[in-house]
Amino acid sequence: MLSIAVKAAREAGRIINRASQDVGSIAIQTKTYNDFVSEVDRSAEQAIIDILKDAYPDHGFWGEESGHENHEADNIWIIDPLDGTTNFLHGFPQYCISIALQQKGVLTQAVIYDPVRNDLFTATKGRGAFLNDKRIRVTNRSKLQDSLIATGFPYRDFTHLDAYLGMFKDMIKKTTGIRRPGSAALDLAYVAVGWVDGFFEINLSAWDIAAGGLIVQEAGGIVGDFEGNESWIETGNIVAANPKVFAQMLQVLNPHLTPALKTPKNA
Ligand code: IPD
Ligand code: CA
Ligand code: CA
Ligand code: CA
Repeated sequence: MLSIAVKAAREAGRIINRASQDVGSIAIQTKTYNDFVSEVDRSAEQAIIDILKDAYPDHGFWGEESGHENHEADNIWIIDPLDGTTNFLHGFPQYCISIALQQKGVLTQAVIYDPVRNDLFTATKGRGAFLNDKRIRVTNRSKLQDSLIATGFPYRDFTHLDAYLGMFKDMIKKTTGIRRPGSAALDLAYVAVGWVDGFFEINLSAWDIAAGGLIVQEAGGIVGDFEGNESWIETGNIVAANPKVFAQMLQVLNPHLTPALKTPKNA
């Protein structure tokens, strides 16, 4: 199953790379304020679904651009065909394709493909995480104060902006540095491979984090919501880090958690 998902991700990567040669000519639509979708997002998603459906006609699909299809199926593919659309449309080379398989509610397969660097991150539940076929692991740095942390901040829905800024302010003071690369899926892959020690973001969608969450877990990291629980896909609020740094991140984030941020948004 992983090899079909890899094939689909690479095909989407070809579409995205071709289009990246001339981003100025790409047709763009605005979904809501600051939320863009291009013809490239849509054709990459279609290519992924065509390949997966060909191999698994009875599976279900949950894609960012096309929504749910056959959502009662035991096997559901959760797809973000282009994570980091804003980066892509500006030619900022940080974006990826994210594909995860959920079987009876359990994440079992994950692929994140960065078509710019040709980095392929994969994981199968219980079998470890890999970057281009090499086993990867989270860092073993023990102090948050020495850690490099990735995040993403609100830029189109400002409901939780004050809560987020409180978290951000405290994180700045308690880490060695913060990065906002602009693709949540790649941020998670970077936790898994140890290029950052941790990541947090609020209000994400299932397709942003499903694959990355499994890859982090299979690389020995911890993934949770801001209370450390497993409902990170449901709430869309996610903390992922090596086990030592994870606990320290929760301590910083927790005081800023509001009742609204505990409410599931992706159920
Ligand atoms: C976005 C990226 C970004 C995150 C946003 C996501 P998209 O996904 O992952 O880093 O901050 O919240 O929606 O829309 O580019 O697929
Ligand atoms: Ca989007
Ligand atoms: Ca996304
Ligand atoms: Ca997307």
